[in-house]
Amino acid sequence: MIELDSRKKELWDILIVFATVVAAVEIPFRLAFDEPPKGLYFSFEVLLTILFSIDIVLSFFVKVKTGTRMITDPGEIRKRYLRGWFVVDVTAAFPFFLLMEISAAPLIRSLRLFRAFQLMRLLKLSRVANLVKGATARYGLNPGLYRLLFFVFFILLASHWIACGWIILGGVKMGSTPAEIYSYAFYWAVTTLTTVGYGDITPETMAQRYYTVLVMFGGVGTYGYVIGNVASFLANVDVLKAGYRKKVEEISAFLSYRNVPIEMQKKVQEYYEHLWESRMGHDEEAVLEDIPEPLKTDLALYMRHDLIRKVPFLADTQETLVRELVMALQPHVYLPDTYIIQKGETGSCMYIVSNGQVEVVSDDGKEVYAQLGEGSFVGEMALILDQPRTASVRTRGYCDLYLLEKKDFDAVLEGYPGFKKYIKKIAEERLEMTRRRQDH
Ligand code: CMP
Repeated sequence: MIELDSRKKELWDILIVFATVVAAVEIPFRLAFDEPPKGLYFSFEVLLTILFSIDIVLSFFVKVKTGTRMITDPGEIRKRYLRGWFVVDVTAAFPFFLLMEISAAPLIRSLRLFRAFQLMRLLKLSRVANLVKGATARYGLNPGLYRLLFFVFFILLASHWIACGWIILGGVKMGSTPAEIYSYAFYWAVTTLTTVGYGDITPETMAQRYYTVLVMFGGVGTYGYVIGNVASFLANVDVLKAGYRKKVEEISAFLSYRNVPIEMQKKVQEYYEHLWESRMGHDEEAVLEDIPEPLKTDLALYMRHDLIRKVPFLADTQETLVRELVMALQPHVYLPDTYIIQKGETGSCMYIVSNGQVEVVSDDGKEVYAQLGEGSFVGEMALILDQPRTASVRTRGYCDLYLLEKKDFDAVLEGYPGFKKYIKKIAEERLEMTRRRQDH
């Protein structure tokens, strides 16, 4: 069995897509100018038959992914393929061009309808969408951009087909070389499809008129779809930013409506700006909430990775301890000059500084005992030494802190005595230092 994600399969898919696209351009063009598949065309057709046949054989041996499930059972793979794409693939691989070559009957040779069977190759295009979709998922392309590019590609291809059809119906009276004739036909197809319709090339026969009506109908639909897609793509280039802007605008409008003073409005705005800069306007907790374990822990670990690296005692502790701690952390944003701890209170939690700075100060706030930045923690003394808060702690600018509740803190310490000793040592050192300063 061949793994779906392997590099070789990917290259093979690219080759198939490329060959199919060339065929989708070449075959209608050849039919429009009534060129028999000879010479270079013949070689290309033979090559296509070989490539598409190998692709059929491969499809029996490649592991398939449906949604998120990987199918590895060979029997099931075969059954699925036979029931699904097999018929399409075989029809696309069938060498209809050879039938024309070897068929002696002039009637068959001259039947244009019969020649049209060569277009069966284009059925393979239906798989192109799937292949490209897989690739975008793997490389994390913007789905809006993918849809738009894919659509542009199909519009171009459809214009080409429509142009070829117009030539077959004899719609082009000007031009002598195939290139010239084609340029008129392509021009007609695009002016009609885009609903511009200059009217310099017009239908004359009944078939041409009906054909034109069909293309016009198609054009209106396509045009609407393109405009809609472009608009939605532009609006969603950055979904996060768009959502954030909308939220901020809504809040601003509400605050003005409620006649909140400008100063206060500014503060709210500043808060959202900080939220955007520090976490793209998203509440980490809310994002994590919907995700099931153990992916949630992995995601939390990844998102808090920077923080963990900054906290010296976490950087070199056991993985299991870090996992437990990380899941217990609750992210909070604090405004500038906010007291997060008041001296003398009973402590129910401690904080780890993720972003910004906090100051350990006397209860009147005048004397600063210590300034602590990213990666430091505060509020551990009340928890581990079981005593009231020894000092007050306030934020300097905006601060992103992770809060760890006492019960989680105790649970973690219980399981990791070495860690407990370490924290206790720091707490005692700090206590000593603060006492000395307070005694002065
Ligand atoms: P806690 O006593 O719970 O609340 C106040 C916090 O300030 C305290 O825990 C320590 O985390 C912190 N703290 C007190 N004194 C110092 C100090 N000298 N240096 C650093 N941090 C301190």
